[in-house]
Amino acid sequence: MAIVYQEENRIFTLQTNHTTYQMKIDDFGFLLHLYYGGRVDGTMDYLLTYYDRGFSGNPYEAGNDRTYSMDVLPQEYPTMGIGDFRNSALIIQNHDESECCDLRYAGHDICKGKYELPGLPAVHAKVQDAETLMIMLEDKVSKVRVRLLYGVLEKEDIITRSAEIINGGNSGIVVEKAASANLDFLSGTYDLVSFYGRHAMERNIQRTQIAHGSHVIGSRRGTSSHQYNPAVIIAGQDTTEDNGSCYGMLFVYSGNFMCEAEKDQYHQTRVMMGLQSDLFHYPLLPEERLVVPETVLCYSDKGFGDLSVKYHHCIREHLCRGSYKNQPRPILINSWEAAYFNFNGETILELAKDAVGLGIDMVVMDDGWFGKRRDDNSGLGDWQVNEEKLGSTLGELIDRVNEIGVKFGIWIEPEMVSEDSELYRAHPDWALQIPGRKSVRGRNQLVLDFSREEVRNYVFHQICDVLDQGKIEYVKWDMNRSITDIYSSVDSQGKVAYDYVLGVYDFLEKLTERYSDILLEGCSGGGGRFDAGMLYYTPQIWCSDNTDALDRLRIQYGTSFFYPMSAIGAHVSAVPNHQTGRSISLRTRGIVAMTGAFGYELSLAKLSGEEKEEVRQQVGEYKRYERLICEGNYYRLSNPFLDEYAAWMHVSEDKKQALVHVVMLENHGNMTVNYVKMRGLLSDAVYEETQSGRNYYGSALMEAGIPMPVEAGEYLAYRFVFRVVDRSV
Ligand code: GLA
Repeated sequence: MAIVYQEENRIFTLQTNHTTYQMKIDDFGFLLHLYYGGRVDGTMDYLLTYYDRGFSGNPYEAGNDRTYSMDVLPQEYPTMGIGDFRNSALIIQNHDESECCDLRYAGHDICKGKYELPGLPAVHAKVQDAETLMIMLEDKVSKVRVRLLYGVLEKEDIITRSAEIINGGNSGIVVEKAASANLDFLSGTYDLVSFYGRHAMERNIQRTQIAHGSHVIGSRRGTSSHQYNPAVIIAGQDTTEDNGSCYGMLFVYSGNFMCEAEKDQYHQTRVMMGLQSDLFHYPLLPEERLVVPETVLCYSDKGFGDLSVKYHHCIREHLCRGSYKNQPRPILINSWEAAYFNFNGETILELAKDAVGLGIDMVVMDDGWFGKRRDDNSGLGDWQVNEEKLGSTLGELIDRVNEIGVKFGIWIEPEMVSEDSELYRAHPDWALQIPGRKSVRGRNQLVLDFSREEVRNYVFHQICDVLDQGKIEYVKWDMNRSITDIYSSVDSQGKVAYDYVLGVYDFLEKLTERYSDILLEGCSGGGGRFDAGMLYYTPQIWCSDNTDALDRLRIQYGTSFFYPMSAIGAHVSAVPNHQTGRSISLRTRGIVAMTGAFGYELSLAKLSGEEKEEVRQQVGEYKRYERLICEGNYYRLSNPFLDEYAAWMHVSEDKKQALVHVVMLENHGNMTVNYVKMRGLLSDAVYEETQSGRNYYGSALMEAGIPMPVEAGEYLAYRFVFRVVDRSV
């Protein structure tokens, strides 16, 4: 039993293989958080202390006992208005405009299997692999109910949390703020590790001490954003890749979010993850409910490396779905950096012809194949094939690509409309716009109001008409601007940002149902919507519009803390690189792109015979190691923001095979020697490095590492393949 309720002391205990999570219903019916961390036995309510705390509110029922205050006690779901002046997980505006919500225990239920969330992505598991706890809390006056949901995946060390806010009263309320998970820590000093960035430079890593006050990250951009990823780690100050305690909070949502990390007056720490409260003002009529997207929690006492392995496994097995979940992904050549808008049917066929000889599986026709899409100023919304440009119907083009021996994939951007489009001319009111104001433009395009079903349905049918024209085996779903002009002509303004995201999910759900064999790749100007919500529908996401190998090393490093390699779209592009102007060797570009779902994004015709041969080899190598790369345990072996080299490795589940890649980031005269230490191997097994034939003990590889060659050259890349051999060193 992963979930146990002890009636005598009203304590809930959630156990996973290595962690324990505990909470208690106190004498007044408040749900207090007792503990989350490494596995413990017994009840942890001895940790609660009570002292008279001046200026901290006391609940009325406490009578003259001034030692009882919600301002100090650790809570599961802190709310506004009950004498807790720290950040609230929930703020409700009642019918009388008061902002108080006093939640007390009103019942619970424990069942087998993992709960699902209507209309929202969520971790899934077989019935026998998970348990669910539902705790109902209620405000006796307003009759607002909150159903806290906990999913426990015992073997994975994963606990998920979500909340449903239900208006059980008989007048309207407004949800002003709602988080799905709150973690209160009674003691300790913690760092917050978060991932910030910008377009083409996503997921840099920041580690800061959680200090007094509140540190807030999030998005108001309508998507999870390039700027802050909806995933954070709360780490002990000494935590490293291999050692120390760390907690992950991963939000399974693709829209506006907010994570607040706060240290209070008694040095207690509170971290919560949930919906962004700006641009959010969600009215609920009687009996209506709001579901707060899920947060996936995980704890490890073995450092960031172990935490990442656990999240990777959880996302691959329990979030991704569909026929490509555990299947090799096609190696693709994408037309974007090869030709941008400047292509026709012949260009696509040429790419296919070049691809087939090199072993590349699929050609993807990126932006520019529809409507009057001459450049990025027009055409979005008109999902009719530009047959004049292609020189044939889409079906004919696909047939010819298939005859060459290559699969076909296509790019779409369903959420958008250009003002210069037939769609906009016919339905200007379908774009998000505030009456009387000029729109804020982004890439000269407007955002369709996907919170409206009729708008989604129209686009859905347009897209289906395209996908039905031939054997399309891959779709890249793009979204190329931040959302502004939040306004609905048909519904309450404060709902739009959230309902929009649910609209996108609804569309994706229908699309994946109807085309269950199509591989979907998410994209938003590269990695602007790289989140666990999207991975529920699209098992891979284009990691960044930046394909420069050096920058990509760092972007992929940051991405790897939560997201598995199979989710990371990574391509080899031309040099000088189109984003940075940097020229890095084809070998290094290949090795960097081989960290994820691999492909190419350049004109194959422009490659020399020698380069083509190298590409052929890369494709072969990727196919050989694809399983290991995408399904093995991934370990970071350096910090490419700090170290002289970037190194990472993939280890098979049985630990008998490992692939190590190293890229030298610095080279100097009379260069010092760098030693790369491995992770995740069997200490007492003997590994052969297959190229040199040298044998090493796993312990030696992990404790002392191997020396990197000192060689002249920029960004030199190395590959080491290790396999366990049945002999001694
Ligand atoms: C975005 C994507 C690119 C490409 C272009 C097309 O920027 O990230 O990969 O598809 O759009 O307009």
